[in-house]
Amino acid sequence: MEDMSKLQDELDALNAKITKQGAEVRQMKKDGAAAEKIGEAVNALQALKLEAGTLTEKLKGDEPDFNRKAFDDLIIRKMFVVPSFEIHGGVKGLFDLGPPACGLKAAMIDLWRKHFVLTENMLEMECTCLTPEVVLKTSGHVDRFTDLMVKDPATGECFRADKLLEDAIDDLIEKNPTMPTEEKEDHLRTQRQADAFSPGELDTLLTKYGCKGPSGEAYSPSFPFNLMFKTSIGPEGTSVGFLRPETAQGLFVNFRRLLDANAGKMPFAAAQIGNGFRNEIAPRSGLLRVREFCMGEIEHFVDPNDKSHANFPTVADKVLVLFGRDDQLGSGKTKKISIGEAVKSGLVNNETLGYFMARTQLYMEKIGMNPECLRFRQHLATEMAHYAADCWDLEIKSSYGWVECVGHADRACYDLEVHSKATNTPMVATVKFDKPQEMEVAKLKFDRKALGMVFKKDARTVSAALEALAESWKDFEPIATALEASGKTTVDGFEITKEMVSWEKTMKKVHEAKFTPSVVEPSFGMGRILYSLLEHSFYQRDMDEQRNVMKFNPQVAPQKCAVLPISSNPECNAAVDEIAAELMQSDLATRVDKSTAALGRRYARSDEVGVPFAVTVDFETLTDGTVTIRERDSMVQVRVPKKEVCNVVFDIVHQRTTWEQVTKNYPVVQVDEGDGTPAEKGADARAKTVVEANSRGRFSRPAPKK
Ligand code: ATP
Ligand code: GLY
Repeated sequence: MEDMSKLQDELDALNAKITKQGAEVRQMKKDGAAAEKIGEAVNALQALKLEAGTLTEKLKGDEPDFNRKAFDDLIIRKMFVVPSFEIHGGVKGLFDLGPPACGLKAAMIDLWRKHFVLTENMLEMECTCLTPEVVLKTSGHVDRFTDLMVKDPATGECFRADKLLEDAIDDLIEKNPTMPTEEKEDHLRTQRQADAFSPGELDTLLTKYGCKGPSGEAYSPSFPFNLMFKTSIGPEGTSVGFLRPETAQGLFVNFRRLLDANAGKMPFAAAQIGNGFRNEIAPRSGLLRVREFCMGEIEHFVDPNDKSHANFPTVADKVLVLFGRDDQLGSGKTKKISIGEAVKSGLVNNETLGYFMARTQLYMEKIGMNPECLRFRQHLATEMAHYAADCWDLEIKSSYGWVECVGHADRACYDLEVHSKATNTPMVATVKFDKPQEMEVAKLKFDRKALGMVFKKDARTVSAALEALAESWKDFEPIATALEASGKTTVDGFEITKEMVSWEKTMKKVHEAKFTPSVVEPSFGMGRILYSLLEHSFYQRDMDEQRNVMKFNPQVAPQKCAVLPISSNPECNAAVDEIAAELMQSDLATRVDKSTAALGRRYARSDEVGVPFAVTVDFETLTDGTVTIRERDSMVQVRVPKKEVCNVVFDIVHQRTTWEQVTKNYPVVQVDEGDGTPAEKGADARAKTVVEANSRGRFSRPAPKK
């Protein structure tokens, strides 16, 4: 057997090369390099990817297999998730959550609200999903959320142009197995650049490769397709709106009111949970890329000159797995490092960003995500929006590989600035100084006549923009320098000349300063997190791979307890109802299974939906008032007076005690659930009394004790 760690090292090194090569290709495209040069670079990238693919396969050979078939079957059979509108044929990228997933999602969101919103006194909002065009035009979504599409003129059916080209080239090569290598390479080079062509280039290529719509007609010229769902607001149909592609914009446009609601105090955070909509062209990867999904977004507004966070010391020692951009381009290895160190060394840009990364990690651990499968990947410089200061994605490893589930972005002042400019609304915060401070400012003198002649009704807007800059010499200095050097410059799109304004650099006593806050934004894709948690929670018992288990922790488990009678004896049923009612009155979601199936079968059913505890009423209950409580993963049982069941489960769910402690407080019962070994291991020493194990077959129950 090959040394796996050596293989892993090789793969890491290859991945680093791939990242570096990918960045180079992107840069070449951005710089408008010659198509031939790009082609060569893309070829090299493809070769590296091929090599990495082979290596990954080799490594995978030794990984315990994730049983996708069993998992998918369970997810559908137990109605965690179902394709939306299934009986009408379904719609790609749309899924409905069934009862267990709804319970899980509600618990995840409840913990999210407690962990972030309540702990930090965040201002929570619920903004509308329907958003008028002007808002998303301002944010940049109307222009930037696009892919190139073509239409079949006869049917009006739309297609993603680059995908058609890729498919056409695949077809051509498949139909011509004897094609000379050079010619084939040429086609493949074109194929690899499919998503980088301009509309005109794509149109030419679609014609060259003879692409025709299903009707047989040539496609329409390609046009940009916006990923946002467009609609019209109001009966006239004249007011364009979109379903929001993210929840954040609702918080930005409410900034002034939010700041007021926070009594003008900075820094502060606003939060929102709600659905986002993206008309993904090719939804793939099951539930990870869908067209409607729940997001949880936090906008933390902070002074751009002071991004410290008061609570940072509480997380400074938290160790995270970080995959910085240098490591992605270099060693290909992640680093385990405390967030305190990461911020101190400058790897993570600032305390506020680092604080949220650590809090996200803690949240993931709280809901039961496997910490081995969590890492933070920094955006490469070529990936990051031009205005962003630093971005780190929390990636979760699932059977689909590492997938971005939470983005953490320091978006600087971009969002507030664009909305402020578009609406002429100041989006600023004020810091009041304890003592007045001397500040360098510019004192302006306008030539109103000169301004008025050139700008007419906009003259006031121009002078206000200059006055705003003059409040700090630092901001005004570039204007002064440009006017002195060339006699003109541009402010907010207006060309100013030296005749219009004169200035004097002077000192001013100021009691406060105004600034446009920066925004640090953690953006959670709740759907992706939920799906990853389903995968991380799924396992099959060693003794029998037919026995699927979802190991949700008691805090997030959709149902906390199952209550089962050992027989249909009316007295047993009455005790079951009594216990279930008490549990439910304590807000502990409970499932009652009075079916005639063998008890073991009923345990297995509740394991499949991740119920952590099962209470069984048996014949002993009728004589001494005790029941058994079985813990799902260990299958260990304890015997507990039925009056205490509710407290035991409640205390575990609310983390006031642990199952381990419960096994010390109550007698442990040995039960064989099918593999011939007692279910509990090493519990005898703790047990006050131990019921003899017997060798019942799988799913059979003990005879009543006389
Ligand atoms: P991707 O690159 O995977 O499309 P993105 O970078 O566009 O994601 P963001 O705009 O940062 O994603 O959105 C924030 C979060 O929303 C992501 O971290 C992800 O968890 C989630 N998300 C984005 N698109 C989808 C989708 N189509 N289906 C499900 N979740 C999504
Ligand atoms: N407490 C009943 C059983 O699981 O066997």
